[in-house]
Amino acid sequence: MDFQLVLDQINTELRPLLGEGGKVASYIPALARVSPLQFGIALRTCDGEVAQAGDSAVPFSIQSMSKVFSLTLAIKALGEALWDRIGREPSGSPFNSLVQLETERGIPRNPFINAGAIAVADRLVSLGDGKAELLALLSRLCGEPVSIDTEVAQSEADTGYRNTALANFMKGFGTLDNDIATVLDVYFNQCAIAMTCEQVACAAGYLCRDGKHPLAGTPVLSSAQARRVNALMLTCGTYDAAGEFAFRIGLPCKSGVGGGIVAVVPDHLTLCVWSPALDETGNSFLGRQALELFVTKTGLSVF
Ligand code: DON
Repeated sequence: MDFQLVLDQINTELRPLLGEGGKVASYIPALARVSPLQFGIALRTCDGEVAQAGDSAVPFSIQSMSKVFSLTLAIKALGEALWDRIGREPSGSPFNSLVQLETERGIPRNPFINAGAIAVADRLVSLGDGKAELLALLSRLCGEPVSIDTEVAQSEADTGYRNTALANFMKGFGTLDNDIATVLDVYFNQCAIAMTCEQVACAAGYLCRDGKHPLAGTPVLSSAQARRVNALMLTCGTYDAAGEFAFRIGLPCKSGVGGGIVAVVPDHLTLCVWSPALDETGNSFLGRQALELFVTKTGLSVF
């Protein structure tokens, strides 16, 4: 399959739609300043073939896509014990919702909603320096240094009222062990990591290779653990749009409000698409269309 041709076609078809739909996330001031007129896509196959088109080399805020990698660190360190305080069911609610935490006694539905990712950050704080571990993991996985956009991190912290509420609520139920400010510092900083589509497509590569490092071939996760991360991405990675993503795209995906979406075609490739304007569910408006076009053109889907 000529993947470069496929990505070029997708870029040509979607570029005229830039500015035609969706809105850049406005609740974090530093994200609100990003131009919506950008679209990038990149993939890396299990054989190491790379293809990219559009703004694939422009760094963007990976936001909730970071939750895949923080979960990876936590699963690697804690195994099954991680699930004592975090569920594995889709929430069917917006990513920052508080409502289920009340009835479910402070146990977040899954590790990809904000509450779940904050609970994962708490586990990483118990294990050591979560921020540094995450940056080191991402840098190893894409073979290049990766850093935090400190302006975005500060902006997250300045406006993180809902995340602070989620953390306090969980602390009240005993879900968090550590100081709330320390846990939120890890969470806000992980969201503010900046990467390009090319770097994300490479970094996620262990998820299409049964857990093996995309460059070194050494285990990042066991194959069973990698399968479970993919299952969570499929069922929970795009929040209340997860059903629609499975129906239209049929790939494990994880989105972020920076406009990125990472997708996995098990045993074939990992793909990252980025366009900052979001639909009403907080997923990239053009990113979603790009993934649907990719699956239609290539026939690559888990279904
Ligand atoms: O917690 C927040 O508000 C953001 N820093 C991350 C949210 C996010 O990316 C949700 N995903 N679509």
